Amino acid sequence: MHDKDLKKIISTLSTKEKVGQLIQLTGNFFDSSDDVIETGPMKRIGFHEGAYDLRNTGSLLNVVNPEKIYAIQKKYLETTTHNIPLLFMADVIYGYKTIFPIPLAQSGSWNFSLIEESARIIAKECYEAGIHVTFSPMVDIVRDPRWGRVMESPGEDTLLAEKYAKSMVKGIQGTDKKIPKEHIAACVKHFAAYGAPQSGLEYGAVELSYDSLQNYYLPSYKAAIDADVKLVMTAFNTLNGVPATGNKWLNKEVLRKEYDYNGVLISDYAAIEELRVHGCTETDKDSARMAFESSVDIDMKTSVYANYLPELAESNTAIMELLDEAVLRILNLKNDLGLFEDPYRGLRDSTKDSSILSDEHKQASQKLAEESVVLLKNDDVLPLESELNIAVIGPYAEEKSALGFWAITGDPKDTITLKSGMESLSDEFSWKVDVAKGANILEKEEIAKYGKYTESMYVDERSKEALLDEAIQLAKRSDKVVLALGESVYQSGEGGSRTEPTLPKEQIKLLKEIKKAGKPIILVIYAGRPLILNDIQDEVDAILYAWYPGTMGGYALANILSGKANPSGKLSMTFPRSVGQIPLFYNNYSSGRPKNENDPNHRFTSRYLDEETSALYPFGYGLSYTNFKYTGLSLDKDEFNNDEEIVASVKIKNTGHREGKEVVQLYIHDIAASVVRPVKELKDFKKVTLKPGEEKEVSFIIKKDLLTYRTQENGWQAEKGAFDVFVGSSSRDEKNKKRFYLID
Ligand code: BGC
Repeated sequence: MHDKDLKKIISTLSTKEKVGQLIQLTGNFFDSSDDVIETGPMKRIGFHEGAYDLRNTGSLLNVVNPEKIYAIQKKYLETTTHNIPLLFMADVIYGYKTIFPIPLAQSGSWNFSLIEESARIIAKECYEAGIHVTFSPMVDIVRDPRWGRVMESPGEDTLLAEKYAKSMVKGIQGTDKKIPKEHIAACVKHFAAYGAPQSGLEYGAVELSYDSLQNYYLPSYKAAIDADVKLVMTAFNTLNGVPATGNKWLNKEVLRKEYDYNGVLISDYAAIEELRVHGCTETDKDSARMAFESSVDIDMKTSVYANYLPELAESNTAIMELLDEAVLRILNLKNDLGLFEDPYRGLRDSTKDSSILSDEHKQASQKLAEESVVLLKNDDVLPLESELNIAVIGPYAEEKSALGFWAITGDPKDTITLKSGMESLSDEFSWKVDVAKGANILEKEEIAKYGKYTESMYVDERSKEALLDEAIQLAKRSDKVVLALGESVYQSGEGGSRTEPTLPKEQIKLLKEIKKAGKPIILVIYAGRPLILNDIQDEVDAILYAWYPGTMGGYALANILSGKANPSGKLSMTFPRSVGQIPLFYNNYSSGRPKNENDPNHRFTSRYLDEETSALYPFGYGLSYTNFKYTGLSLDKDEFNNDEEIVASVKIKNTGHREGKEVVQLYIHDIAASVVRPVKELKDFKKVTLKPGEEKEVSFIIKKDLLTYRTQENGWQAEKGAFDVFVGSSSRDEKNKKRFYLID
């Protein structure tokens, strides 16, 4: 259909029918076996008597079962008069049934073609299930591991987040305006800056300077928009005092005008109603107006638009015009998905067998997991040798609920546990693998505060002492211990803020007791955030950070532990030494009084009296089973002008005995600018594979774009002067450094 056909449809709609297109409800309004659309908790969410007819609804949220989607769509189309199909949207963040590692882990692979492939698979499984839109990618920049949703983000760095945004949108949607078969629409979120709540407290206020917002927090959303993402979701937070969901500057000036975005803007869950709770409006009617006038098209899961927009539009022609524009955007989306031609898109593609959880999909998930896991420490205990008695101890040894908080469509039953992974290699490596739980993930007394999730949190009823004793005995009779610890999946994700992001107490006790058995300990950590590891890192011989590695996690980890796969993940988020350092991130602004390494106790410098200022494990850090030596950083010239470029080259050699992959990272520091620039910023990277003894030259092109930042007065500028470039294996690696100049 063309625009004019869609406009014709709109001209036949009543105001209430138009507003209906803007309403998104959950499936329980529509789903009962006898009567698919006349049931549901209408009163509970506050629809005024007679104000709303469910048959006008435009989209549904989180109905993910294909049979239900089919039944609801069918009944809906039989009942409505306007024949506009429903849109089905869902949170399929990192997998429908084949679950991939959590996004914070994925970005640590620094392998964006694998990430794009994961997104293609996610879309394909959704397509076959009848889902039209996924609320992914989430590209909020995060610097505070107290916040539970860091797991869902690509991390603290803007360049990685931009690349993640582009790869995800391309993988999910494909590249045509009309979304092809086996792809669905993507929705970038949460616009904007949701990842910076004060004190890491969920739904907290966000206060950001112009420089931080423009240069670090906004570009990842913009990258998704440049990749033609079909939807944008607002954020729950206030941004410098104004809630994002009713923020005219953000949504109209920045999003619609400056970014030239003409797709659908959807509110986050109930965020329009929350404008009143924030204290920005007095009534729901004011909230309807505020959100709508800031160009929010879809009201997710409240009755505010339904109750008030019809009267607002009918009494104000400007609002009626905006309503027509909003409906057109939504119909355009339905049209781009081909729903007018086939409202059952994907559901009746019976020509092929389902690809859901196919071997191909599972292998892709495993590959990404193998590249996402980060080796933080290794005192010569990994990879594991052959012919060992291995004790796999800890609550994650056999835990299937290890997919992370947002794998809501995944089934833990499909998870390959660490135990199964290790056992799958026991013949090949002549391992004897035994397992003991040692402790619960969280103890009974701790789980009450997890609300509706408490019921899903399995607790082994054996006494703490019995669990511990069994594990100690096993450790004593084994050669090496693989200790699988971690936070509960319910401790991160939405509503998962923590003030002390450490391993749970009982698990730390388990670690300390196992240590007494005197066997080498390889700690495998499952978590949705960087945990504070300062107190335990010296107690163990190796640390493998697994994050939540997805459906195939057990095989991926076993391959790494055995050396069949060589770790190549690098942190996409800083690991602080202590909570007091948070927020700690690599691209901080320089201080006028930096710590003086030659006089470390100088009182009046930027430092803590009781802790280092540096990270425990910095951004970009991660070990391999081989070693890489960087030498001879050179620039083909040391000054250039706006139209020229500099080629920076470095030699990198695999000096170990195994093939390995290394992420070669390029950072730049603007020495003097009109606004103080960060101590360094990641500007490019390459992931290279090197055989033992092999040396390669890796080159990067430095152009003006890499030096540009957004100034408040003059917009995007590359300011003349001196710059330092660093090429190395992490944000802390400064051995290879050169200076160059941008001149007239
Ligand atoms: C979350 C969004 C999510 C939405 C729909 C909200 O609570 O913030 O990320 O897409 O719910 O489930």
